[in-house]
Amino acid sequence: MTLSKDSDIYRLIDARAGRVTPQIYIDPELYQLELERIFGRCWLFLAHQSQIPNPGDFFNTYMGEDSVVVVRQKNGSVKAFLNQCRHRSMRVCYADSGNTRAFTCPYHGWSYGVDGRLIDVPLEACAYPHGLCKEQWGLQEVPCVESYKGLIFGNWDTTAPSLIDYLGDMAWYLDGVLDRREGGTEVIGGVQKWVINCNWKLPAEQFAGDQYHALFSHASAVQVLGVKEGDSNKALGSGQTSRPVWETAKDSVQFAQNGHGCGFFLTEKPDANVWVDGAVARYYRETYAEAEQRLGKVRALRLAGHNNIFPTLSWLNGTATMRVWHPRGPDQVEVWAFCIADKAASLEVKAAFENSATRAFGPAGFLEQDDSENWVEIQKVLRGYKARNSTLCMEMRLGQERVRDDGIPGVTNYVFSETVARGMYQRWADLLTSETWDEIEEKSRVYQQELVK
Ligand code: FES
Ligand code: FE
Repeated sequence: MTLSKDSDIYRLIDARAGRVTPQIYIDPELYQLELERIFGRCWLFLAHQSQIPNPGDFFNTYMGEDSVVVVRQKNGSVKAFLNQCRHRSMRVCYADSGNTRAFTCPYHGWSYGVDGRLIDVPLEACAYPHGLCKEQWGLQEVPCVESYKGLIFGNWDTTAPSLIDYLGDMAWYLDGVLDRREGGTEVIGGVQKWVINCNWKLPAEQFAGDQYHALFSHASAVQVLGVKEGDSNKALGSGQTSRPVWETAKDSVQFAQNGHGCGFFLTEKPDANVWVDGAVARYYRETYAEAEQRLGKVRALRLAGHNNIFPTLSWLNGTATMRVWHPRGPDQVEVWAFCIADKAASLEVKAAFENSATRAFGPAGFLEQDDSENWVEIQKVLRGYKARNSTLCMEMRLGQERVRDDGIPGVTNYVFSETVARGMYQRWADLLTSETWDEIEEKSRVYQQELVK
């Protein structure tokens, strides 16, 4: 595919009509443009504050395909650097995480301080008799690093909106995970990493806005669990069938804004989630009063919720899984899954959260497998010329968007709709076709306005 003008991209996405051409999931030229215009200028999740508590602590991650190391500074602040030696481009840090006083390149031994400065060059005097301006050759720093309630984000683009403006109303929903209890959250255990052979947008879109697949793709898992809404103490494999949450919830919401999205049911039970184990369900019941006092009823009860901050930070309320979909070419994604829980929870509860997240959404999790299978198969279908040039239907509840009057913010729809998918691909196209953030924001504003007029 040759992209000669912006209209080539809008030809692939027509959010207003609910149409998408699946070239967007496979085209290598589009992928390169995504690395530049999406991963090069959107806010990307780097690490949780709890992963680097002390000076010199570092966490090795990615921004798009760029390796980036996030480091706690002596004064407590956080910096992030491109993990690339300025001499011949080796990585200067290979460990996943740890504590260090310096990053020393394994190739020729250039050494960088935790503040990124080049501090030592082997044989400097005889190798550079004319002198080497070390100030000029420090690690490249990610210019924008900001934090939201424990989550650290980075952005390469100094003209981007602030993190809080970028999150917009999505922050209200995110608080449902990050602000349930005094003391905030922490990451429990390590990071589970695995590769799925699919484009990054397939999982990101599903976590943002696809509750619809759960009815069918996860039908067997829900049946096997055999738990009723709010009755999560039942043993896994009891075999008892009962009505799932989408049949018993009194209402539901899908929210979309600027590419972000989420969906959830309005329930009455503080432990209304079908796959958490007994200790976790009990914890939600016991801490409900505090959560409601901090967040209000809707967010305190919002357990069966799926979410994505554009482009690639997803989480599930109640299940404690948070993950980043690191892109690896147009047809592969590297999943990094974190278990996130309230810092104030007991060790027993934290262990239960970790078990629960791994059981359902680890690499072999009983729900994760259902999802991955779909994405991998879609990617295989798109190898076909006819298949990738076809038109797909994204019309679900098109034109039914509304702004609610009960305090739940933003443009919303019924949970089984494609408002989020349409919004996410509209934002994707707006980012790829815009030179400046002013242009991007103006396009998003117009699209958003049209939805509810
Ligand atoms: Fe790092 Fe040469 S590539 S010191
Ligand atoms: Fe799923």
